[in-house]
Amino acid sequence: MVSLDSPITIIRPEIIEFGVGTAERLGKWASDKGYARILVISDAFNATRVDTLGLKGEITVFADVTPEPDTANLDKVLAAANAADAQLVVGFGGGSAMDLAKLAAVLAGSSQTLREVVGPNKVHGPRRVALAQVPTTAGTGSEAGIRALVTNPETMAKLAVESIHMLADIAVIDPALTFTVPARTTAATGVDAMAHCVEAFTNRKAHPMIDLYAIEGTRLVGKYLARAVKDGADAEARAGLALASLYGGFCLGPVNTAGGHALAYPLGTRWHIAHGAANALIFPHVLAFNTPSATEKTRAVMDALGRKTSDDVQSVFDAAYNFCADLGIEMKLSALGVPDSDLDAMADDAFAIRRLLDNNPRDLARADIRSIYEAAY
Ligand SMILES: NC(=O)c1ccc[n+]([C@@H]2O[C@H](COP(=O)([O-])OP(=O)(O)OC[C@H]3O[C@@H](n4cnc5c(N)ncnc54)[C@H](O)[C@@H]3O)[C@@H](O)[C@H]2O)c1
Ligand SMILES: [Fe+2]
Repeated sequence: MVSLDSPITIIRPEIIEFGVGTAERLGKWASDKGYARILVISDAFNATRVDTLGLKGEITVFADVTPEPDTANLDKVLAAANAADAQLVVGFGGGSAMDLAKLAAVLAGSSQTLREVVGPNKVHGPRRVALAQVPTTAGTGSEAGIRALVTNPETMAKLAVESIHMLADIAVIDPALTFTVPARTTAATGVDAMAHCVEAFTNRKAHPMIDLYAIEGTRLVGKYLARAVKDGADAEARAGLALASLYGGFCLGPVNTAGGHALAYPLGTRWHIAHGAANALIFPHVLAFNTPSATEKTRAVMDALGRKTSDDVQSVFDAAYNFCADLGIEMKLSALGVPDSDLDAMADDAFAIRRLLDNNPRDLARADIRSIYEAAY
């Protein structure tokens, strides 16, 4: 673990607007900046309400972002971006739309291809267009960060691009935009936000400067997620979750996730299980596995979630499992259409995600990963 004096770099959007009713502030900001040609990258649902952003000028809306986007979906976005020749790109949706907006902002009109920018710091700058992010789920925290994830359908692996040039000029976080998120997606995306916080908190690279956000984000999810699942129009609960999602985004940049996300990714890339649902299913298993190596922090996590446990691995597992199951999340792999014949290939895929596994507080051998999939089945 690192200590208080360990070096850390914090990168955040210059402007963060937060609060119910702030969505239309984007239009004012864009007008003040003089951006007249605007491309909004969105999914089918959010594309129907682009007017809530108050944008003026020549507005092109790309409405076809798919959940867990793949490279073919990105190609369509890039074709639209090349045609629109926009001055401002807006990501309007969940993590899927925001991640594709980041890539559109740096790849449209560029000589670089996606393959050439995968990994950290490969994008040539400076960026030629402005970038705004407006999240509608809570969530990925992608609005605050410099990473974008796209699935390669050939290898069924996530390609991660990380670049300062994908940082938003402005993030507008209006919790009212999340009122319409269905209960199931609310539960899954809320656990994703919590997983970003928990995995950063118990991380090998955990840093005191980020722990503050990590534990508070976890507490906000513990306090508000069940309320928002029950009543989607509960403004206080939605605002609490939007903040937790943002804090999760703050955790991702300098620290990032660990074993939980590494084991969840194959569920999404191979079996199209929603990112948050996959994280929830894996969460109790990895938290319990990590307990011997992160005992105090695990206890703090369970306290923050409002679930008292002993330091015993089984008690941590049961409490974390029940937290997710009580939200109505399916916690069995077999019920999600994954055949048990795929568990070996999934374990191989997860074991290859070194960028995250190397952050885990306890070494996860391939056999440990295979056992966790078996137990989750
Ligand atoms: N860049 C990052 O740092 C980061 C972090 C975590 C996850 N991700 C990526 O984000 C993606 C997942 O994003 P997500 O979980 O936000 O889901 P999503 O963007 O895929 O959206 C999920 C579904 O919810 C719908 N939806 C979105 N907002 C809605 C609203 N307000 N009302 C009703 N429906 C709405 C969408 O149309 C979609 O069908 C994955 O590809 C994941 O890898 C990125
Ligand atoms: Fe995530």
